[in-house]
Amino acid sequence: MVIAVGLNQQQISLSGGQLLIYHIDSGKENKGSIHKMIKIAVMGYGTIGSGVVKVIGTNQESICRKIGEGIEVKYILDLRDFEGDPIQSKVVHDYQVIAEDPEVAIVVESMGGVEPAHTFVKAMLLAGKSVTTSNKALVAVHGAELIAIAKEKNVNFMFEASVGGGIPIIRALNSCLTADRIEEINGIVNGTTNYMMTRMAQEGCDFDEALKDAQEKGFAEKDPTADIEGHDAGRKIAILTSLIAGQQVDFEDVYTEGISKITATDILYAKKMGRAIKLLATSRQVGDTYAVMVAPFLLPKDHPLYTVNGVFNAVFVRGNMLGDAMFYGSGAGSLPTASAVVADVVELAKHIGRHIEIEWRPEKLAIADYRQQTGRFFVRTTADHALIEKIFGEAEYIDVPEKPDETGFITAEMKETDYEEKAEQLGNIIQMIRFH
Ligand code: HSE
Repeated sequence: MVIAVGLNQQQISLSGGQLLIYHIDSGKENKGSIHKMIKIAVMGYGTIGSGVVKVIGTNQESICRKIGEGIEVKYILDLRDFEGDPIQSKVVHDYQVIAEDPEVAIVVESMGGVEPAHTFVKAMLLAGKSVTTSNKALVAVHGAELIAIAKEKNVNFMFEASVGGGIPIIRALNSCLTADRIEEINGIVNGTTNYMMTRMAQEGCDFDEALKDAQEKGFAEKDPTADIEGHDAGRKIAILTSLIAGQQVDFEDVYTEGISKITATDILYAKKMGRAIKLLATSRQVGDTYAVMVAPFLLPKDHPLYTVNGVFNAVFVRGNMLGDAMFYGSGAGSLPTASAVVADVVELAKHIGRHIEIEWRPEKLAIADYRQQTGRFFVRTTADHALIEKIFGEAEYIDVPEKPDETGFITAEMKETDYEEKAEQLGNIIQMIRFH
């Protein structure tokens, strides 16, 4: 591993104003026109935190050139000691050591969960340090508050890696697309479920088998609830909607359906229709607010998200001036996520002493009732055509030979609330998946 080591003032002046960066493993030194050393701390040395140290070590020279200064990981906060590990000497167990060290300018939070991450991050901002986090749970709940504290202290709070892993979607919304009013976001923002849906589509396997495979490959947690029930995607679309609306969207208000009820038979029908089932996180402008939802959708072949397979993520954005844009790439994993975190570190380093405005007011946005939104619905039922037509009127039938005892049909466009009423009248519904 390549790590820059901090140098004292004497060594800096001895080198005639140039910083020497020593490579621990090779003993070589590089001279550059870098004059200062920015000290950072990493809170949480798990998958993401260790990735951050690796990204900084591997790409150190180019990162330092981009910042125009040297960079050093001074502390790693973790409960463990990492005995024998090259980072052992940097490990601390008390976050106050970092908060109270005036040398530390930037802190990476990669612990996960709301607490104690919230307490630690708040303490760092209040101590005048900029923070970047990959923690969507923290950002979804406390994003507005932490941005406000950062503004008050003239530092920055960034969270590029909290949505879409390595895909630059947050900065795109905050900077590149600020000339637009974002009318719609449709995203595949959960790699675990996208891997599982891809496997089910490609292998014809059932949900349980796809989950077991994802767990064996390390793509799904031992307790997969947050991913398969759509809570992870719900937090991510709440964050994206808060950014495009400029105010707080509570993820608890986001209607969320996961993929745990999707079966191999649903995939047979989807194939018959030339569609793919994808867990989508969607946000659509409705007047002054947004309708926000996470649910499995049937996507047509010509939709750009149709071909997003495996653990990849993609976010499809529609702006009122831009039209359509899609951001695609590695949505999870140590190095892709760490790459986004370190990009934030570079941005934070370039803006020391200057707050970058992010519009995310704490007032809660009342999101639109998803039941008042319209769409088409694919339904599997044991009811006969006569009853289907009596209740739903027009219907487009889809049958698969493997299931002679049931009928598949697609409704006309209607409100969710009307669909629910009709579905209750029909009864005998095996499955409903929304059309996109
Ligand atoms: N389990 C999450 C996913 C990790 O699969 O997308 C990244 O947030």
